[in-house]
Amino acid sequence: MERITHADIPAICALLKRVADAQPAGLPPELAKAWQPGPLEFTSQMEGVTYFAARREGRILGTVGCEIRHGTCHLMVLAVEPEARRQKVATALLVAAMEWAKHSNAPTVWVDALARFSSVAGLLKHHGFSEAGTLHKHEWGEDVVLFERVL
Ligand SMILES: CC(C)(COP(=O)(O)OP(=O)(O)OC[C@H]1O[C@@H](n2cnc3c(N)ncnc32)[C@H](O)[C@@H]1OP(=O)(O)O)[C@@H](O)C(=O)NCCC(=O)NCCS
Repeated sequence: MERITHADIPAICALLKRVADAQPAGLPPELAKAWQPGPLEFTSQMEGVTYFAARREGRILGTVGCEIRHGTCHLMVLAVEPEARRQKVATALLVAAMEWAKHSNAPTVWVDALARFSSVAGLLKHHGFSEAGTLHKHEWGEDVVLFERVL
């Protein structure tokens, strides 16, 4: 588990595209686009965010971004290569993110996820997060579920 460098950006963008393509059809086009940033767009979104990557034999299998927002830790862009799922890749990413949050003196970690990304609910509950509510039709008509874990 390492922080990403600029050299990793093309591989991360390609991973995010495969993750978006693996979603069942029906994702609003604006969201499908947001989940597939190009390298320049991703670079501009990196400001103030620490990204970790999980690698196996040099290949990036998953990523997560951590930022301190309003004095606590927000996780974003949590994604694992479709064919590497259920092998604890996201678990390793979450452990790294929670360690980072503790070192950053964040009292909580929170995540906002599209309700249709149902796998993330199972993952986060497995790691002690609780569901804090739903923002209805919040992102281009999609419900967004909030999860939090007090550290
Ligand atoms: C959600 C996601 C990151 C999980 O990654 P993963 O590497 O497969 O997760 P792990 O192997 O670490 O899972 C650990 C535990 O979480 C739970 N879990 C993970 N995926 C699950 C699923 N699809 N359904 C139910 N529970 C799940 C299980 O308890 C699992 O333990 P188990 O395999 O022993 O039963 C991955 O499915 C993904 O990238 N999904 C698409 C993108 C997404 O939803 N991102 C979140 C938006 S913020």
